[in-house]
Amino acid sequence: MRKILVAGNWKMHGSEAMINELLGTVIDNAGACEAADIAVFPPFPYLAQVQSLAAGSPLKWGAQNLNAHTSGAYTGEVGAGMLLEFGCSMVLLGHSERRTLYQETDRQIAEKFTAARNAGLTPVLCIGESLTEREAGATEQVVDRQLDAVLENTGIGGFANAIIAYEPVWAIGTGKTATAGQAQQVHAHIRDKLSALDGTIAGQLRILYGGSVNGSNAAELFAERDIDGGLIGGASLKAEDFLAIYNAAGQ
Ligand code: 13P
Repeated sequence: MRKILVAGNWKMHGSEAMINELLGTVIDNAGACEAADIAVFPPFPYLAQVQSLAAGSPLKWGAQNLNAHTSGAYTGEVGAGMLLEFGCSMVLLGHSERRTLYQETDRQIAEKFTAARNAGLTPVLCIGESLTEREAGATEQVVDRQLDAVLENTGIGGFANAIIAYEPVWAIGTGKTATAGQAQQVHAHIRDKLSALDGTIAGQLRILYGGSVNGSNAAELFAERDIDGGLIGGASLKAEDFLAIYNAAGQ
């Protein structure tokens, strides 16, 4: 049976004290991950702290980005091997904030995806359309383009055990969640597209929804056939809110 994944993207938030309290409370209340799988994505400097808090629990953690090179003269960058040393099993790639604020291209993201796979990290590929693109009726075209860039590099095999997060840009941090129906429609499109290449891989693929998920709308989203979990921003920074989403996954 499918198990929902509740993933917290902490973005550039947190401090040692805040993470001790937040993650401590999450582990105390949900550390067995019975209702859902849990993953958290702290800023780089806190990976060691998350590792020491979560080690020995089924909770997973990862970074919010990586550099496609393994090492070298790339000041300010972090490679996959470094993430592995801190117990990371996953990495977010192509988040819309990386795409828009730091001009990451589909091609660069595809290279990062390949680097993550080669290192044995589970890539969480973030895709999604802007409001203008949605209003122009281009949603499917945009997610197809974002997926095709990765497919070109890795083929469908690259998506075996990978995770996709559909995050419509207009729903991120805005309080405007896509309706469960809107999200399901895009999730089904993603799965159908990949199914045409490999039904087994597409069937097992986890497709998360992200964008203003909270304790009140999570259950309805998770009830949709092709929504296998959530990538949570703002509501992952408060234990109470994050736990409400976790509990919604168990309903
Ligand atoms: P919010 O949940 O704050 O809308 O953020 C979603 C997101 O960007 C997760 O990666």
